[in-house]
Amino acid sequence: MDCRKFIEQQIAQIRQTVGNGKALNALSGGVDSSLTTVLGNRVLGDRLQTVFIDNALMREGEPQRVVNTFAKIGIRVEVVNARQEFLSALSGLTDPEEKRHAITDTFYSKVFGRIVRESGAKFLLHGTILTDIEETVSGIKRQHNILTQLGIDTEQAYGYAIIEPLKTLRKDDVREVAKFLDLPSEITERIPFPGPALAARIVGEVTREKLDTVRKATTIVEEELADIEAFQYFAVLLNDRATGIRNNKREFGQIIVIRCIESTDARIASASELPWPKLHLICERIINEIPDVNRCLYDLTPKPPATIEYI
Ligand code: XMP
Repeated sequence: MDCRKFIEQQIAQIRQTVGNGKALNALSGGVDSSLTTVLGNRVLGDRLQTVFIDNALMREGEPQRVVNTFAKIGIRVEVVNARQEFLSALSGLTDPEEKRHAITDTFYSKVFGRIVRESGAKFLLHGTILTDIEETVSGIKRQHNILTQLGIDTEQAYGYAIIEPLKTLRKDDVREVAKFLDLPSEITERIPFPGPALAARIVGEVTREKLDTVRKATTIVEEELADIEAFQYFAVLLNDRATGIRNNKREFGQIIVIRCIESTDARIASASELPWPKLHLICERIINEIPDVNRCLYDLTPKPPATIEYI
């Protein structure tokens, strides 16, 4: 693709739409929202307010990591604590689409609505990419960031208009443009992480305890697979339990799934052929370091028929 032309077009579009106004954007630290932030910042400078919403569903140390990475490239990121709002909205929900809907609603309507009102911004810059739109519109899965394509009038519903500079790109294109703009490799090489965050990796109800468990497992999987060239890797906490034995005592413990996949754009994917000793090591660390987890599985299922995430 012609990165220079794409960037010029998007910069012109943002400039024309926002005019002398103010815009806001939510940065998650992933490559899509990072590229959106950098494009917006180039056009709007201080008239773009970038926030990181701490929704209690992020990986270990994520808010600070994102703030530090962007401080290095001269972009200030404000962390907004919305942990309790998200946990309350998810309480009692087990259905995947209901969980997604609760996250979308809390994000756009409650938390973002409030920040936008306080800031006076009329525009929200959004890192939606083409695959998100296609899968949502075709009814496969409601990606949490799709609104206008579902017929939601955001100005009326939430009080702001949405600008989506990346909506014609797939993940590999996004990385190419980000590299073209010389963004640091910690951004361009960052493995994808879904909008619903760790809630997409908990089957069943999302609770603080389950989040702690899947967060610890995620840290282990990411540490151990950091040197693997895969599209995405992560841990999932199932809603089932299984019998085990620890210290000569019967234990009905939790089950973690390791997922590691090969893909170029997330539309189709296959399980990575990980070295056996690596899988053993991850399994051993998970069952030894995380209380109450006594089983660890490796998911071999391709997409389709599975999706990459579990909700
Ligand atoms: P699935 O599970 O649909 O995932 O096969 C495809 C890719 O998209 C990521 N993903 C999301 N990204 N908002 C996002 O921004 C979402 O709601 C969402 N759900 C899944 C997933 O991690 C994978 O890379």
